[in-house]
Order: sequence, then structure tokens, then C-alpha cells
Amino acid sequence: MSNKTQLSSDERQRFQDQYAEIAVLAGGLAHEIKNPLSTIGLNVQLMAEDIQDDMPRAGRMRRRVDTIQRECQHLDDILNEFVQFARAGELELVESDLNALVQDFLEFFEAEAKDANIELSQHQDPNLPKVRVDHLLIRQVWMNLARNAIQAMPDGGVLEVLTRSEDENVLVDIIDNGRGMDERTRERMFQAFFSTKASGSGLGLPTVRKIIESHQGTITCESEVGRGTRFTISLPAVGVE
Ligand SMILES: Nc1ncnc2c1ncn2[C@@H]1O[C@H](COP(=O)(O)OP(=O)(O)OP(=O)(O)O)[C@@H](O)[C@H]1O
Ligand SMILES: [Mg+2]
Repeated sequence: MSNKTQLSSDERQRFQDQYAEIAVLAGGLAHEIKNPLSTIGLNVQLMAEDIQDDMPRAGRMRRRVDTIQRECQHLDDILNEFVQFARAGELELVESDLNALVQDFLEFFEAEAKDANIELSQHQDPNLPKVRVDHLLIRQVWMNLARNAIQAMPDGGVLEVLTRSEDENVLVDIIDNGRGMDERTRERMFQAFFSTKASGSGLGLPTVRKIIESHQGTITCESEVGRGTRFTISLPAVGVE
């Protein structure tokens, strides 16, 4: 017997409605916070400009103002990611060639990778079936995974992207040879706000998973400390129910 809790379709619908309502409220709240935050940021900026070198304790004031500015920026980043997270369920599906989308992204990402001393490598299955995806959201998936990979390879490395098909699904592997994850991180990486980074919001992977699941797809991960990490995304091929 399965020990998973089985929800009736009524219960599932109610759960989804409640979730949608909370997501809208949370997105609205994030927006409400962004306005006063930008006023604070702007005024701190003006204060910074008013500090003169010959004022008593000018150095200390500058450091404090810097800290406030940095924290305002950090809060703003978190709110932006949160708004994206709350929106990740709304889809505009277009029948697409995933090879082309991956290729576009890698071209766009090339400069950032080069800057971080990362070599990009790709292998495409030329007979890949089409998928139905939201282009902006899928780009966000590549972006979040590629940024994580770069951050896991502070001394440079290789980021590999493979496309292939298996049964009735299109698969994309995103592989890095970075520092990998320990067991605790592997267990928690998809939890909202879980991060091992000093300034991480911990919304990158939850957003990725939410986007993939809203496309009826799945995401899995294999990772080993010191060896690297492989994320595998699977999306249903078009024409298959
Ligand atoms: N490719 C990877 N290699 C090693 N660890 C990873 C990798 N991808 C994710 N992680 C781990 O999973 C955690 C959660 O990732 P997630 O993208 O959700 O948040 P974050 O990167 O910490 O913050 P944010 O994406 O909001 O900047 C990371 O803090 C990191 O510990
Ligand atoms: Mg991240």
C-alpha cells in the first residue's frame, strides 16, 4: 500500500485555489514593499552625497550608509526573485525546438561564463521532438541552473548541456564539475529560502522546479561533493498525451 496521502480531486482543486490566492497576495505584498524600499534607497543615496570629508565621523557615516544601501539592494533582489517565483505558474505555451532555445541561451550566457573562466560545452540530439514551453520561463530555468553551476565552480570549470529524447520525453542535462552538494543540501535544495550562500535568496531552484512542473515536466538531480552536479529536466514531447 502506498503511504502517500491521496487527495480527492475536490481537495486538490481547493488546495490549488488557496495556493493561487496566497501566491497573488504574496506577489502583491512584495510589490507593496518595493515602493517604500526604493524611497529608502533613494534617500540613503542622497545622504551619501551629503557626507563631506571634513565632517566629524565622516568615515563611519559612510560605512553605515554603505551597509544600508547594500541591504536595500539585497532586499530588492529577494523581492524580485519572489515576484518571479509567485508568477512562475502562469504559462504562455509555444510549440518549440528545445535545441534552438538552449542554443540561444548559451550564446547569451557566453560572456558571463567566459568572465567566470567557465567553458561551455553542448551536445544536441538533432532528432529532438518538439515541446510546448513558455520561452521566458524556460530561459529563467536555464539561467538559474547555469548561475548555480557557475557559483559552484569559483575557480572555473566546464558547464555541459545535453539534449536527448527518451520514451516520450525530451530531456536536458545541465552538468557542472564544481564543488557538488552534501546530503543535507541535496535534501533541501528545492525548499524555498534554503541557501548555503551568504547572499542567496534560496528561491532559484524552487522557481525552477515550479516552472518545470507547471509544464508537466520533472527535474532530478545527482550531485557528489568534490565531483559536480547534474540536473536532468524532462518535458513531455508534443503529440504525446
Ligand atoms: N550546481 C550546483 N552545485 C552545487 N550546489 C548547488 C548547485 N545548485 C544548487 N546548489 C545548492 O542548492 C542551494 C539552493 O540553490 P538555489 O538556486 O535555490 O538558491 P541560491 O543559489 O542559494 O540562491 P539564489 O538562487 O536565490 O541566488 C544553493 O545554495 C547551493 O547550496
Ligand atoms: Mg541559485
